[in-house]
Formats: sequence, structure tokens, C-alpha cells
Amino acid sequence: MKSQPPDSIIRLYDLRLSRDTFTQVRGVLDSTWLTAGPRVKEFEKRIAQLSGVRYAAAVNSCTSGLILALQALGLDSAAEVITTPYSFVATAHAINHVGAQAVFADIDPQSLTIDPEEVARKVTPRTRAIIPVDIAGHPADYDRLRKVAEHFTLPIIADAAHSFGALYRRKSIAKNTDAAVYSFHATKNLTCGEGGMVVSRHKVITDRVRLLALHGMTKDALARRNDAGWQYDVLASGRKANMSDIHAAIGLGQLPSFESQQAKRVKLVQRYRENLSALSDFIDLPTPPKHIQHAWHLFIIKLNIDALTITRDRFIEQMRARKIECGVHYIPMFELSLFKAGGLDARLFPNTAFVGRRVVTLPLYPLLSLKQIDYICDTITDIIARYKR
Ligand SMILES: Cc1ncc(COP(=O)(O)O)c(C=O)c1O
Repeated sequence: MKSQPPDSIIRLYDLRLSRDTFTQVRGVLDSTWLTAGPRVKEFEKRIAQLSGVRYAAAVNSCTSGLILALQALGLDSAAEVITTPYSFVATAHAINHVGAQAVFADIDPQSLTIDPEEVARKVTPRTRAIIPVDIAGHPADYDRLRKVAEHFTLPIIADAAHSFGALYRRKSIAKNTDAAVYSFHATKNLTCGEGGMVVSRHKVITDRVRLLALHGMTKDALARRNDAGWQYDVLASGRKANMSDIHAAIGLGQLPSFESQQAKRVKLVQRYRENLSALSDFIDLPTPPKHIQHAWHLFIIKLNIDALTITRDRFIEQMRARKIECGVHYIPMFELSLFKAGGLDARLFPNTAFVGRRVVTLPLYPLLSLKQIDYICDTITDIIARYKR
């Protein structure tokens, strides 16, 4: 080992909020309005601008955003929505929550995103939408997905939980799809603690999401107060899923430094690449194609477990024993009890099953130093030297 072990564990995620964030939040706390109000409006405007589209509706999570975006499409209980089994469970839950059926299509093992050819194979007369997931911040194959979507006249609603800041052919995910649903959950590159946003080129989608996010009411509480009018109507059976000004202020506070924080992630990824490229017989590194800008929410490597005498899980234990916390993004859905009980069969998704046993998420966040990355890479090199076949 060249580098020294750290005093305390290197976490998978870590965060230090900027001064701007404290100032923004204090501004809300000093005001007389804490929930949906001017900060939410400003945050929506900024995120839409940064995505190069006109419309955005802020919600309390990406999960809510996915549910409401699907409801905005007017799906009924006979609908099928095609998505990937290689995602956080929220993607499938959102489909089930609107009463539709999730139909899974296998992934491309390199990018870990849904394979457009598999999507085309899964389309039936009941298919109503496609939900690709930009895993780790790697945009799905939108050129080919759009061809499939156009051929079958289906909307694409992107689960863009990881991909705020990503570009596909120099355009945001929202510009490449009918709607992108971002997450601003605590671990995301831009966070509100909890939060999400539906961002779209189509006003009809975001208008409907906004309505459904507040009980289907025609006026929110601030509008009733400002207009000095108590009247409102209810146009649809919505839910309570709006964002508050406190959460929007946390997000707004991080926007001035977002680009530099993303640049820091790119630097750390380069260092991982320099340090680990000699281990190509044992580790597959993420290699995004030139036409995408990765958001680097996660750094997911694949272990060549056939060339090692330990499993992926034992590898993670070994890392933890040396004070490095790793993760797994994701356990494929067909390995979770709920979906197993529903009869979802791993054999139908060979690529997802293959990578599902091999993926390891390494720490990646702007607070990490190059020295810490060197320590992580030295540790990996050491473990591989010890357990290679
Ligand atoms: C791929 C993916 N989709 C959806 C979600 C749900 O996001 P939220 O927690 O904002 O509802 C997550 C959360 O981490 C996620 O990773």
C-alpha cells in the first residue's frame, strides 16, 4: 500500500452545504411563507432554464413526479409501461401506484441503461409509455429510444433521478424526452433534502402535474391569500405532493456552485480512471461515449468475479474493513421479494442478472480529495492482488 489509511471511514456519500444555501434558507425562515411560494417558482424557472426547456413543476420527490407524470398521461388500469429492472424500486412502484403494469426490458450491460431493442420487443397494444432510467447519471440511448417511441407513438418519461446536469448530444434529458423527472433527494448531486421536478417541453404535462400535486385544486394557499379570495375549485383527484419554499431554497442555494461541483466530480472520475486502468482484467470502468455528458452521480465499476476468488459481496466487506464504504446500485428488481413473489424471472433479463452480481459503487462526491481516491484505488489494487485467480 502506497497511501495511508484514513482516520475515519470514507463514506459512500457526504455533503457540506454552501453559505449560499444557509442564506437562501434563512431568507425563507425570515419570511412569512414556508410552503409553496416564490422560491418554488424561482427554482422551477432556474431548473427549466438549465434544462433548456420552458416548463417545470416542482414536487416533493422524484417518486411523486413519476407518479404524477404518468397520471398526466391519463393512463388507465389496463395500461402497460415499459421500464428497466435495473433501477431503484421507485421506478416500478410509480407505475404500480397509478394502477398500470410495469413491463420490464433488459439493459445494455455497458451503459446499464435500458436496451431500446428490448423495449421494442416488449411493446403490446396496451403499452402507453416508456420510462428509461439514466443510471448513475449516464443518459439512456435516446436516439434509438426515440425511434422506438416514434414508431409506436409512445411518450418517453425519463426517470432522470441521477441525471440533472447530464447531456445527450448536447441537450438535457428533458429536451430529449417528453418529460424528465429529476430527484433532489439528500444523496443527489443537487439536493433539497427531499424533492423532485417534472421538466418538460410540453406545458400540458407540467400544468397537469402541478394541479395533481395539490389535490387537483385550482388555487394554492398563497394564491388564495394574495388574491384575498377564498374560492377555489377541485378539477381532479390529486394528491399532496408539492414542494415547499424551504426545500426550494436549499436547492437554489446550491445552484451557484453546481457547475464547479460537477467539474470536481469529473476530476475525481479521471483520477479513478488513471489509477484503475491497469486492472482492466479485473475491473470494468464506466466508459461513456463521446456524445454524452455524464452527470457522475455514481461511480459504478463491474468486478470480473470470474477472475477473482471472492464474490462481489466479500469484496465490499474487504473494502469496509479498510474503512471504505461501497454500495450496490442496484439489486435487480427480480431479486427483491415483492417482484419474485410476482413471478418476475431473472432468466428473462440475462444482462441485468450478469451485471447485478458484479456492480460496486465507489465513493464519489465533491468533498472527496484526490488523496482519498488514491487510497481507495490502492486498496482495490491490494485486494485484487490478494484474491486474483
Ligand atoms: C433511479 C431512481 N429513481 C427514482 C428515485 C426516487 O427518487 P426520490 O427519492 O426523489 O423519490 C431514486 C432515488 O434515489 C432513484 O435512484
